[in-house]
Amino acid sequence: MTQAIVVEREGAVLTLRLNRPDKKNALTREMYSALAQALEQADADVGVHAVLICGSTECFTSGNDIADFLEQPPQDMQSPVFCFMRSVLECRKPVVAAVAGAAVGIGTTLLLHCDLVYVSHDARLRMPFVNLGLSPEFGSSLLLAQLVGQARAAALLLLGEGFSGEQAAAWGLANQAMPSGAAALEKAREAAHRLAGLAPAAVQDSKRLMKAPDREQLRQVIEDESRLFIQRLGSPEAVAALSGFINKARD
Ligand code: COA
Repeated sequence: MTQAIVVEREGAVLTLRLNRPDKKNALTREMYSALAQALEQADADVGVHAVLICGSTECFTSGNDIADFLEQPPQDMQSPVFCFMRSVLECRKPVVAAVAGAAVGIGTTLLLHCDLVYVSHDARLRMPFVNLGLSPEFGSSLLLAQLVGQARAAALLLLGEGFSGEQAAAWGLANQAMPSGAAALEKAREAAHRLAGLAPAAVQDSKRLMKAPDREQLRQVIEDESRLFIQRLGSPEAVAALSGFINKARD
């Protein structure tokens, strides 16, 4: 398994830590596969009652690895990124996220599926899909407007406007904004352990009931978004925007 995902078990809490600091925790195919595998194992393991997803206290993730997007783009629904999305969507165990620093692209859309989210007040969230010639993914075209309203969702998804951890909490995208990345991680860890101490069947049944009304629609939306996303990745606009980032990094 890749070193860029650190899997740690503490009691009934499984922590998945993104650990690729030199690239701001950009997610590669290998990292998505490792995350999907760990989440599927957590789901099947009766000893795991809660999952915590975090990055460092400085950075959550800069989103999909842009070089991967150019060199090894997802081809179909079996691609690692989509397997990861399914593993999150289908996970029966509660998932808690701790976010500090940058949370870009899937780093933000992932949060729409987590059960509890704690952010540092100065975290920088952004979904620059359109800015990169791409389109929304991971159910964000449905979930974001439900959560923050149509007008704000349009600014975030169509204009790709960034927002802070403070705003994420004020808009209901996160449970609480904390004074620092370390405090966000501590709060998230505490919440995961609190969940893990509750009756597991009661927590899982409650999560299932809360997610049930949208589940079928969400599965369909994610599939539709994913097919479009694959097409857009091959578009001249996306190739130009993504290459621009890589070339700037090399300058
Ligand atoms: N994919 C691949 N490499 C990435 C990356 C990504 N998504 N995000 C950052 N990196 C790399 C940079 O190229 C740089 O590599 P280098 O040191 O070898 O040159 C390194 O990570 C540090 O990034 P840098 O941009 O210098 O850090 P920063 O603190 O100034 O900015 C971000 C952090 C996250 C705001 C900025 O890196 C960024 O905007 N990244 C792209 C985010 C993105 O568009 N993701 C895709 C969404 S669909």
